[in-house]
Formats: sequence, structure tokens, C-alpha cells
Amino acid sequence: MGLRGKDVLGLEDMTVEEIELILQTAESMREIMTRMIKKVPTLRGKSIVNLFYEPSTRTRSSFELASKYMSADSVNIATSTSSVQKGESLLDTARTLQAMGIDLVVIRHQSSGVPHFLARHLDASVINAGDGMHEHPTQALLDMFTIKQHKGDLRGLRVAIIGDILHSRVARSNIWGLTKMGAQVAVAGPATLLPPEMADLGVACYDRVEDAVAGADVVNVLRLQLERQRKGLFPTTREYAHYWGVNRRVLSLAKPDHILLHPGPMNRGVEISTDVADGNGSVIEEQVTNGVAVRMALLYLLLGGKSDEAVN
Ligand code: CP
Repeated sequence: MGLRGKDVLGLEDMTVEEIELILQTAESMREIMTRMIKKVPTLRGKSIVNLFYEPSTRTRSSFELASKYMSADSVNIATSTSSVQKGESLLDTARTLQAMGIDLVVIRHQSSGVPHFLARHLDASVINAGDGMHEHPTQALLDMFTIKQHKGDLRGLRVAIIGDILHSRVARSNIWGLTKMGAQVAVAGPATLLPPEMADLGVACYDRVEDAVAGADVVNVLRLQLERQRKGLFPTTREYAHYWGVNRRVLSLAKPDHILLHPGPMNRGVEISTDVADGNGSVIEEQVTNGVAVRMALLYLLLGGKSDEAVN
């Protein structure tokens, strides 16, 4: 069994079996990352382009490392220094890259739906590395992988997602994925950052962070996305930190063995306090490590690797 399509665009359309396959494949990839020589020949001869229209540290560098660990050739395109600056369209940019013989495009774009548009127009595979406020499927997959490593099974877990839900593609992908996998999701944030459609997605919505965190196995704190916000959604970052920031007092309401996630980059002292970000329950650095393994798994599954070849 493999993935159904040539692309990975979001978790809304992914089946439980596909999610399980990706998480299981990522376990083999995680093992490769512990070796002295972190390199397998599995994707030799394959070419991957990372096309990022928005800034990224974790996602872009982990896709690049994932490509290298699997012996694929990868190219990073920063739109600030590409012909996008001369007015070249997205589609012309992608077709130009395809004409050079690439097999897969990893795209991040500020507009929702851009990866889906590219997937319709290119023969190459497309992976969504974050599209506007829509989805960030590879982040949600690495979050689920990290949770599974600590908790064993996602079914029945109580997961609290806290903060700027409105602008968060991470929240949407996590909600699609976690609810499919049988977790109970609660979200909390200021009323202005809680979109009304959340209730239709099968999640419990709260405007007090304490109510969402109470009894949680997992607390996932979102970055306050100031770059996507118009003015007036909350009074000040100081008040945001006071009412919706996750700190030691708030986490004392979660289960004693809770784990704490954040997709990064963090606004320390705003949505998360430094003591808990660096504290015992924090798995934030593990998320980063697991991001490479999950992205290796996705490249492998999309570019036609066979299950018994991955680790040799
Ligand atoms: N979590 C995440 O997408 O981080 P980057 O913006 O650094 O890729």
C-alpha cells in the first residue's frame, strides 16, 4: 500500500491509512538519523526543488536535509533572489523548474490553495509546506509522530491547541489529523482569533485557556502570527500573554505527564513562557528532529521507494 495520489496537499483529504503509513515510515527514517553516516541511496537520481514564497527555518532546512539523507538532489529557491522579482508568475516559475526535470516541488506560499493549483498543472509531485491560513500538513504529521512517540497511541488522547487559531494553518492540519486518528481536540484563544467554523470540525472551543488545558495529555501552543493580523484583534501582546499565554500555572492544570508542543518559531514571553518552553514536559526540539524523519518519509513515499529499500 502507498499514498493514493502524487501529491501531499493537506490532511483534510488524507485517509487514516495514509496517515498511519506516513507515521510508520517515519519510524524507519528516524532510525537512519541515528546512524553515524546518515545517508541511504534510496532516492539517488531524484531532483527536488524547495520553492518558498514565505520565510522558513525549520520546514525548508528539514526538507533539504531529508533530501540529502536520501541521496536526492535538492535546490532551494528564495523568491527574493529569483525571477519572481522580475514579475514571473507562479505557474511559469514552476513550469520552468519542471522543464529542468525535477521530480518534486515543495512549496510554501502566502495564499491558500497555491499547492493545489500547482499540483493540477505539474506532472511533478507537490508537497504543501504551508499555504496561507489553510494547511501545514507536514507540521501536523510531525506533531502527531512526536505525540505518538511519547503517548503510544493517539486514540482517546486529549489535545489542547492554544492561541491564534484563526490564522493558523498548523491548527487546521492538526485538527483534521488528530480528530481522524481518534484524539479529542480542544482549542482556546481570544474570541477574535477563534473562527466560528471550529465547532463544525468536531473540536471543543473555549475562550479561557485554563478550560482547554484542564486534563490535557498534550498542549500545543501556536505562534501568535502578527504578520497576518489586522489591528484590534486583541488589546496588546502583554494582555495576550496574561490571558492566553501558556506558563507554569496554566500547565499545572494539565495531566502530570503532559507534553508541550510548539511549531516554532516561538514568541517567548508572549504565547509561551521561557520556563515551560525549556522545561521538562517540552518536546519542542524533538518536534524539529522528527520533522526531518517525517519529511524523509514523505519524499520516499511520493518518489516511489519500496518499503524494504528505505533503510538499506
Ligand atoms: N513550524 C514552521 O513551519 O517553522 P518554519 O516557519 O521555520 O518553517
